[in-house]
Amino acid sequence: MELSFPEGFLWGAAGSAHQIEGNNVASDLWALENRPGSVMRERSGDACDSYHRWHEDLDIVRGLGLTAYRFSVEWARVEPVEGQISLAALAHYRRVIEGCLERGLTPVVTLHHFTSPFWFQLAGGWLSGEAVARFRRYVRAVLPILDGVEWVCTINEPNMLAMVASIMNQGGNGEGDGREERAENAAGALPAPDPAVADALAAAHRAAREELGAAGLKSGWTVANQNFEADGGAEAERDAWAWPREDRFLDVAAGDDFIGVQAYTRVRIGPEGALPVPEGARRTLTGWEFYPQALGNAVRYTAARLPGVPILVTENGVATADDAERVEYTRGALAGLHGAIADGIDVRGYLHWSLLDNYEWGSYRPTFGLVAVDRETFARTVKPSARWLGGVARAGALPAGTAREEMSPVG
Ligand code: FCB
Repeated sequence: MELSFPEGFLWGAAGSAHQIEGNNVASDLWALENRPGSVMRERSGDACDSYHRWHEDLDIVRGLGLTAYRFSVEWARVEPVEGQISLAALAHYRRVIEGCLERGLTPVVTLHHFTSPFWFQLAGGWLSGEAVARFRRYVRAVLPILDGVEWVCTINEPNMLAMVASIMNQGGNGEGDGREERAENAAGALPAPDPAVADALAAAHRAAREELGAAGLKSGWTVANQNFEADGGAEAERDAWAWPREDRFLDVAAGDDFIGVQAYTRVRIGPEGALPVPEGARRTLTGWEFYPQALGNAVRYTAARLPGVPILVTENGVATADDAERVEYTRGALAGLHGAIADGIDVRGYLHWSLLDNYEWGSYRPTFGLVAVDRETFARTVKPSARWLGGVARAGALPAGTAREEMSPVG
């Protein structure tokens, strides 16, 4: 049986500046990647060269039949030196926004996706007393180019960002972004964020929303939903685990214009905390458990915690070298999402992570893309899964059938 989605539901694909643009040289991550002895397995380097090839990316999105594109504006490009705004960088991002609008694509614009300017980090990062004022000033600088944008995400995954910031602060040497730990244990096993960083991010989000709201723009933030599940009756431990890592960030979004849900896998919590992925469980290239049910569960959890706040799925996908497995995962995730919508949850769209095989914070190996990118020529190759998702978008419905049957023949 075919599963239909609501009229006007957005279907899109996502990426972020540091992961696709290339040469994000004024950012904190670039500094980490390029320092001698860096623990990052690979450097981002030229990434997918989307800073120059963004129109190719948009053409692909439109050609597939998708209707939305999520990307991020890079603070380190807009303000490479404190207080010095690059009008050329702003003009670039305005061209990308107009490129979306001209193609009939709804732009979903993220203002902060993990990376900050290196100067911001050197000046104390989110723990500096100036951090919120600095972020507000950046948001103000971006306001003039956001005309016509209906979806602005202030900060991507503040919960993940806060956990990584805490590792950097505690570890002292600032190596890695925590993705290595995450690969082993899944996101939820990271240490709880420093509450001071969490508070600063919440304040930065509110400051950004004030500025955006005064300009008539709708905004929200996106939270990494980790599907914490109580194992063997560890309900209290689950709740205690989830509060600093997820719930407090969801609660900040009460009253926002929307909440971005991002879900990939689950994390089981026992009496001692996060449990490893069970022996023998099916895993993805990031080491996470293959768990398509993550999306429907995350949407239900978010809706219960934030009644009345519309939901946009801003990320969901799977790192796999087997493209048929991507369809299988996405079909499962969309079936779960459909069930949540059928139960009355207000979900406005689904943005797949990611459009491109891009830089996955330390490595190009975990391929999340609907589209492959040649690491030398940057040539894009659309994968069958992309056409499959485009077909779902055009039909506004998930077709019946199994993933592998749908893959052949590919039209
Ligand atoms: C999320 C990030 C995104 C990407 C996916 C796999 O945590 O927001 O940039 O790395 O995970």
